[in-house]
Amino acid sequence: MPTPLRRVIPLASLAAAAALSIGAARAEHRHDNGLARTPPMGWNSWNHFGCNVSAKLIRDVADAMAASGMRDAGYQYVTIDDCWQVSRDAGGVIVADSARFPGGIKPVADYVHSKGLKFGIYTDAGRRTCEGRPGSYGYEDLDAKSYAQWGVDYVKIDWCNAEGLDAPAQYAKLRDALLKSGRPIVFSICEWGSNRPWEWAPAVGNLWRTTGDIQDRWNSVLTIVNLSSQYWHVAKPGAWNDPDMLEVGNGGMTRDEYRAHFSLWAMMAAPLTAGNDVRTMVDSTREAAATRDILLNKDVIAVDQDSLGVQGMIVGSSPPDLQVWVKPLADGSRAVLLFNRASVPSPMTADWGRVGLKTKQARVRDLWTHRDSSGVADRYTATVPSHGVVMLRVWPTGN
Ligand code: GLA
Repeated sequence: MPTPLRRVIPLASLAAAAALSIGAARAEHRHDNGLARTPPMGWNSWNHFGCNVSAKLIRDVADAMAASGMRDAGYQYVTIDDCWQVSRDAGGVIVADSARFPGGIKPVADYVHSKGLKFGIYTDAGRRTCEGRPGSYGYEDLDAKSYAQWGVDYVKIDWCNAEGLDAPAQYAKLRDALLKSGRPIVFSICEWGSNRPWEWAPAVGNLWRTTGDIQDRWNSVLTIVNLSSQYWHVAKPGAWNDPDMLEVGNGGMTRDEYRAHFSLWAMMAAPLTAGNDVRTMVDSTREAAATRDILLNKDVIAVDQDSLGVQGMIVGSSPPDLQVWVKPLADGSRAVLLFNRASVPSPMTADWGRVGLKTKQARVRDLWTHRDSSGVADRYTATVPSHGVVMLRVWPTGN
């Protein structure tokens, strides 16, 4: 496992880097499909259901996205991951599992659309998917055409069984196939960070995985955060680092850990793809309430979805387990995360100068308690739970 990130980014570089990344965005618009101006939000079947996908599950999930408030909170794309596909027909057209998707994929997409949601699907750049289903290699244009005919709005393209292929070239071919299909389709690159996608993927896709697969445990979150936080300078509207889907609600972490997981993803301007069984989110259990409290937290979602599109960064980590993160926001405020990775609670301080605000007074909103404090001079101190966060939004209010 990589050692925790210990670098401290001097504040002066923060504004300069944000300006730089916006400049780079202008220079690279030639392949921009105009989509995902803020990090995509939605749900994906893999983390909770694995291969156990069906038309009924997707319809039930679409219903639950509406009933639970997920859709209204901004979660849009309902995506079927691996295992929906079984073969190709005589013309090479990809064929869905007829037992699980009796009418094929189009009626499922239609149903998702009828709920005011968008529809996503999964394939692989190689010959077979990670679960051994047919991949898109050699069928790039045909598959993109099928997706467009079915009403697909989002495609995740994996990298299993792609030996011998060149990732930037193969993904560019898939990008061009999707563009040629004539339908606006968000392009999610999933090669797990193995070919340094942060160096080429911004000109190819809308999001790219930076790491291997997430697991529903704290160490996995830490490992991913250590890696994905390093590429903050590359993210911009239309092109996002993807630290993988959320595990909130799947049961393997504590409430504080799930809050930290969700807050960190928002600070990293990460795609917010829920990976839980949203059908249970409407239940009157304590677990369902806890999951709703996190996934539907509009203050935290607003930080993720901020139109400036700058990925947050670590501005201090001393001692190394106590990290201060900052994300500049479009209205001139800053999101500040006090992140305690240690096994005991600890007081932590956000100092206005250190988070890049030239002000003495500020209004501070705690994004988990939703309490505001005005006229806060110089700094804000709070006790941060072990494996937890205090997440703030700080508005300068005067000198
Ligand atoms: C890979 C991806 C996962 C998931 C599975 C499906 O492991 O990284 O997100 O799509 O394949 O087989």
